[in-house]
Amino acid sequence: MTEPRSPGEQRLSQLAEPEKDVAAGTRTLVVGPYLTRRPRGGAAIEGQSVNPRPIEARLEEAVGLAGAIDLHIVNALIAQLSSPRPSTFIGSGKVEELGGLIRAEEIGLVVMDCALSPIQQRNLEKAWGAKVIDRTGLILEIFGRRARTKEGTLQVELAHLAYQKGRLVRSWTHLERQRGGFGFLGGPGETQIEADRRMIQERMKRIERELETVVQTRALHRASRRRVPYPIVALVGYTNAGKSTLFNRMTEAEVLAENMLFATLDPTSRAIELPSGDKAILSDTVGFISDLPTMLVAAFRATLEDVVEADVLLHVRDVSHGETEAQAGDVATVLRELGIDPEDTRRVVEVWNKADLLSEDERQRLAVTSERTEAARRPILISALTGEGIPELLAAISIHLAAERMRYEVDVAPEDGQGFAWLHENTEIVSRKVTEEGHSILQVRVTSGKEPRFLARFPHAKALPG
Ligand code: GTP
Repeated sequence: MTEPRSPGEQRLSQLAEPEKDVAAGTRTLVVGPYLTRRPRGGAAIEGQSVNPRPIEARLEEAVGLAGAIDLHIVNALIAQLSSPRPSTFIGSGKVEELGGLIRAEEIGLVVMDCALSPIQQRNLEKAWGAKVIDRTGLILEIFGRRARTKEGTLQVELAHLAYQKGRLVRSWTHLERQRGGFGFLGGPGETQIEADRRMIQERMKRIERELETVVQTRALHRASRRRVPYPIVALVGYTNAGKSTLFNRMTEAEVLAENMLFATLDPTSRAIELPSGDKAILSDTVGFISDLPTMLVAAFRATLEDVVEADVLLHVRDVSHGETEAQAGDVATVLRELGIDPEDTRRVVEVWNKADLLSEDERQRLAVTSERTEAARRPILISALTGEGIPELLAAISIHLAAERMRYEVDVAPEDGQGFAWLHENTEIVSRKVTEEGHSILQVRVTSGKEPRFLARFPHAKALPG
């Protein structure tokens, strides 16, 4: 955001960036307040579905997320409960017990890996004398630091404001209740909240308008990039699977590839040349995570438009991770939501990364599984770190792209300048010969997406083998 000028804008800036004072290096405690499988009485709690993942894996992920913004994690522990308490989420005994630890360890920030109401957050902060953020607050913070394009930044700010607005509404209702239902008569607190809400609402409208323009500009950029007739290869995968590392290895480009989650909120694209001589555009995307808070879905999706248009998707998996199957399942769900069939092996290639971390037995097992799979569906075992398997991966991309693109021979009459221009924009021209009559005989490659329009425009085109 730009420097605030008026007091109103200053207040808005406070509201839009609530976690701004979460400084790198802050001594942090991560708490996993997870619900036990069977809540008391056996019934599911409304709005609190029980996550099927092992709680240790959930805590590990939360620690990874907190580490992604350089917090100094002093301790991480699980506090299981059968149902959340309205005032502090966890029980009062646990609040007290953790309070002792927080004071002893001089903890400045507690990350609660759950969704806290504003009241719960405030009560915990009061009880512990430390700042408290919940999972949404944490992910917003990560998104905010990682957003690199204008669109990403605006989407994150919008999500942040929506988050804050929700909290204002809820704390207002709470005040109302405290006053026995007569809150509508008004009071100073309420006026401030009303003013805050209005300000947030107006800012959200402005951002939405700005976003429309940005999205249009981006569509133009994409259209012009589309004109480069190279197919698009997109890297997708669970957060921390190694996409940025692989992207770097394949492009030798400079992108963030630290051990940070979400190092890539916005897609990055680079042209690469495959050993076959074919060119492609490689596109890196933001990592997927489980349990993405609903209000962050739009911000996350905005970064995935390139994926929808990609000719080939490389699904990068960390096969050394204990949760690799569950992570792959999550990625498949998101792909389906984007209208992509994760089982479509013409388009989706599984890349089994971090082979270097596998034991000899595991590596053997995976290598055998891969070899036994028919060529078109074969997952490629690699290590983005050591470079093992990269030549095989590049070869696999060529095979998939070739399967994806047909070769044709077209005869273009000398007077058909427009037809010539169309081929330039929409196909890859492999070779060109000019006949004595001035006709151009072109060999072109056409992606399956463009094939219908191509054949409508050039019905006499001859399909070539391979
Ligand atoms: P997000 O941006 O969060 O989606 O992560 P990403 O999928 O882009 O992962 P990234 O490339 O940032 O890698 C995450 C961590 O895994 C980094 O510490 C990498 O060094 C490490 N890593 C990536 N590939 C390999 C690999 O093949 N072997 C080993 N041992 N580590 C790897």
